[in-house]
Amino acid sequence: MIECNQLTRTYTSGGRALTVLKDITLRIDAGAFTAIVGPSGSGKTTLLGLLAGLDAPTSGSVTLDGHQLNQLDEDGRARLRAERVGFVFQSFQLIPTLTALENVLVPLELSGEPDVARALGLLSDVGLAGREHHYPSQLSGGEQQRVALARAFVNQPAVLFADEPTGNLDARTGQTIVQLMSELNRKHGTTLVLVTHDPALAALARRTIRLTDGEVVSDTTT
Ligand SMILES: Nc1ncnc2c1ncn2[C@@H]1O[C@H](COP(=O)(O)OP(=O)(O)OP(=O)(O)O)[C@@H](O)[C@H]1O
Ligand SMILES: [Mg+2]
Repeated sequence: MIECNQLTRTYTSGGRALTVLKDITLRIDAGAFTAIVGPSGSGKTTLLGLLAGLDAPTSGSVTLDGHQLNQLDEDGRARLRAERVGFVFQSFQLIPTLTALENVLVPLELSGEPDVARALGLLSDVGLAGREHHYPSQLSGGEQQRVALARAFVNQPAVLFADEPTGNLDARTGQTIVQLMSELNRKHGTTLVLVTHDPALAALARRTIRLTDGEVVSDTTT
């Protein structure tokens, strides 16, 4: 489902090169539920961005859902993401000029099938019934995060990448989100790759990949 081979990412800033991911080789099976953990700055978000094709590696390759990402152009990667991938960012990246409902509908508009009932249902699932027509600036941080989650679920992605999806939520709302995700995984076989510090979420994952300083230091399956 997802494979990466000798993935390296080097950033240059202030004239200095910093290698933040070093030679990562991984294979994640379809339908797997995987957590990526590790200290702040260890490269988790960078790895997620590379696996999802949002960023390009300095060297190495990624195959996602049968497509070698470096052989697709920007449009091809965008289409693959629109049709097959959901992404929940650490910063929610909602579009400020669109309402909650309109934000959730964005991925469906890219694939040409706006399903308002599904979007409304998801907003209600994440506890936002009654907030559909609020703009992001009219929502709390946790509420914005929940809109971002509903948006990531709306196109029934084959693979869902989520970066700290419960990071800004209280325990009860976080639990709802955790349930939604494990339901997606169980019922639809959605492949889940999550970066998380949340023990409840990490405990549900069958596989835990730990990064330290850009390297995989452990990879355990229960
Ligand atoms: N655009 C960039 N330019 C230069 N360095 C960057 C850039 N993006 C990230 N880095 C560096 O790469 C390293 C890894 O960043 P990354 O965001 O992947 O960490 P993380 O494990 O997700 O951390 P956190 O838990 O704090 O979110 C950090 O040291 C960061 O400073
Ligand atoms: Mg991060």
